[in-house]
Amino acid sequence: MWYQYQMLFLVTLATCLIPLASAEEAAVDAVPVFEESIHALVEVYCTDCHNPDDLKGDLDLERFETTGMVIDSLAVWQRIAKRIEANEMPPKKGSQPSPEERTQILEWIASL
Ligand code: HEC
Repeated sequence: MWYQYQMLFLVTLATCLIPLASAEEAAVDAVPVFEESIHALVEVYCTDCHNPDDLKGDLDLERFETTGMVIDSLAVWQRIAKRIEANEMPPKKGSQPSPEERTQILEWIASL
């Protein structure tokens, strides 16, 4: 009898956990990868003004090539997230990322 309860418990537990696990996997998959997509967005929208020769705001964004380099300068990327969130960067006069692209960058920074 006890054994049957135990089995029932395990089966119930397993059926509860399986959907949780796959939902989590999907969420992880949705986070963009710096090298695959974010780097390109930064090149399109930011590095015209933030490069070693044109250090607007004393900020070079061209030097970031990998996720590891970004994580080493997380404080800078927190400031970047704030300026993107406030729609301050890139400045209004330049070409603007789409709302989806902004969300993509912000979600990626938040995932670090
Ligand atoms: C048209 C030129 C231009 C573009 C394009 C541009 N910026 Fe800026 N950025 C500036 C200027 C000028 C400043 C300094 C004045 C200020 O802080 O508003 C600045 C300052 C900043 C700062 C503050 C400096 C710091 O270290 O905290 C951040 C962060 C920033 N930019 C991020 C970005 C990001 C991210 C992008 C792309 C999504 C971007 N900028 C695109 C001109 C630009």
